[in-house]
This record gives sequence, C-alpha cells and structure tokens, in this order.
Amino acid sequence: MKRCDLMVEVGRRRFLGGLGVAAAGAAAAATTAPQADAAPAPALVEYPSRRLANLSQLKVDEPLAVAYPDKDAPGVLIKLGTRVPGGVGPDGDVVGYSTVCPHKGFPLAYVKEDKTLSCPGHYARYDCEKGGQQIWGHATQNLAQYALRVDGKGDIHADGVDELLYGRLSNVL
Ligand code: FES
Repeated sequence: MKRCDLMVEVGRRRFLGGLGVAAAGAAAAATTAPQADAAPAPALVEYPSRRLANLSQLKVDEPLAVAYPDKDAPGVLIKLGTRVPGGVGPDGDVVGYSTVCPHKGFPLAYVKEDKTLSCPGHYARYDCEKGGQQIWGHATQNLAQYALRVDGKGDIHADGVDELLYGRLSNVL
C-alpha cells in the first residue's frame, strides 16, 4: 500500500512538471510567433462597372430583376426600406444580390416578411439586411452581393461582387 502511495506521488509530480514545461513552451511561442504585417484583403472582385437601373424604378420590398456582371448572371436590386450595411442611395437601403443559390444553383425568391432571399431547392435562406449572410442551409458561402454605387442622376451602378458566383470557377469574366 505504501509503495502504491509513492507511485501516485511520483506520477503527480511528473504531471505538474509537464504542465510547467507546456506553459513555458506556450509562452515562448506567443512571444516569438511572427506577426502579420498586412490586414486581410477584402473579398471583393471588381468587374467592369455596369449601370443596372435608376433609383426611381425601385419600391420598398419589390425586387427588380437585373443581371451582373453579364447577362448569364441573374440578380436582383432590392430597396429594403431600412438603412443597412452596404446599402446605397439616399436612404442607404438599396442592395443587390445574385439570385443563384450558392448551394446548387436554384433560383432564389425574395421573401419580404423576413427580408431574405430563399431557395426552393433545399430551403437555404440568405439575409438581405446582413450582406447576404446564410441564416439556414447547406451552402458553403454567403450569397454574392454587388458593390453598388449611385451617381448624381440616381443611376445605380455595380462595380463588383463580394463572393464567388455559383457555377463559375473564378470571379473572372
Ligand atoms: Fe439552394 Fe440547395 S440549391 S439550398
């Protein structure tokens, strides 16, 4: 019995000693780890600028079908009625998104009750007030949002997209 107590004590000391070595190693790693010099680049891909519509064409919660960056890439402009991050126009509430689901390419439909673009394929939902963030579903990325700009005449231009468009191998035309 005494021998057993001795072994427990030896094991306890080894364990505590090991913790000390591990803590010292972690502290050394923290002080010597290289620091990143540059901030991460935004995930925006610039395409040729294209006029999509005019502010006068938009009404709250009535999506306007558009295509960007080319005619094979359907999308939508939506006036949300509430200022949102990334929103443009005098009320900061106009956003634009691809309407091709990033999961398997089904066409998305706008649901004004919860301001989402929703997929009939496997029921993914993307929050139009939160930059196209996926709030339910299987896709491995959020919905591609347009970088929009409004000129002095109220024309709405798209200058880029912030995610990979479904079905494309890269965001290069
Ligand atoms: Fe949209 Fe699957 S294609 S959730």
